[in-house]
Amino acid sequence: MIHAHITAWLLALILFFVAISLNKSGKTKGVKIIQMILRVLYLLIIATGVGLLFSVYKIDVWYILKAVVGLWVIGLFEMILSRIIHKRRTSTFWIQFVVAWLLVLYLGFVKLPMSFLHP
Ligand code: HEM
Repeated sequence: MIHAHITAWLLALILFFVAISLNKSGKTKGVKIIQMILRVLYLLIIATGVGLLFSVYKIDVWYILKAVVGLWVIGLFEMILSRIIHKRRTSTFWIQFVVAWLLVLYLGFVKLPMSFLHP
């Protein structure tokens, strides 16, 4: 489950930047397709995240925070991409993006115990 979770968000991160660069080169059809794939990946990230939550013996506040920040990252993926497509300002969202990613990686890899980095 943890590997499916990591694969899903890693793929989403890569496709997010692919979509941005396709949009830059004017390939709107490609962007639309990737945006659809991304939405499926969001659901997979959430489904595997919830699956991980179910495997936890006692859900404490750190788990709740992890889930909330994870949802925040997904919301930012969607917001930033759609604002870029519609040529709206994204600077405040990029700042949030960096903060949310640092938080989610810290909580996932360092703070919470299920990490494949410290088995
Ligand atoms: C793009 C969004 C997300 C990112 C980047 C992300 C990132 C991560 C990372 C890095 C880990 C640690 C993996 C490991 O240590 O091997 C993890 C674990 C986990 N994630 Fe997510 N996650 C996201 C969304 C979510 C969501 C939406 C939920 C809940 C609904 C969730 C729940 C969990 C849980 C419960 C764990 C296990 C924590 C543990 O005990 O170590 N994640 N995630």
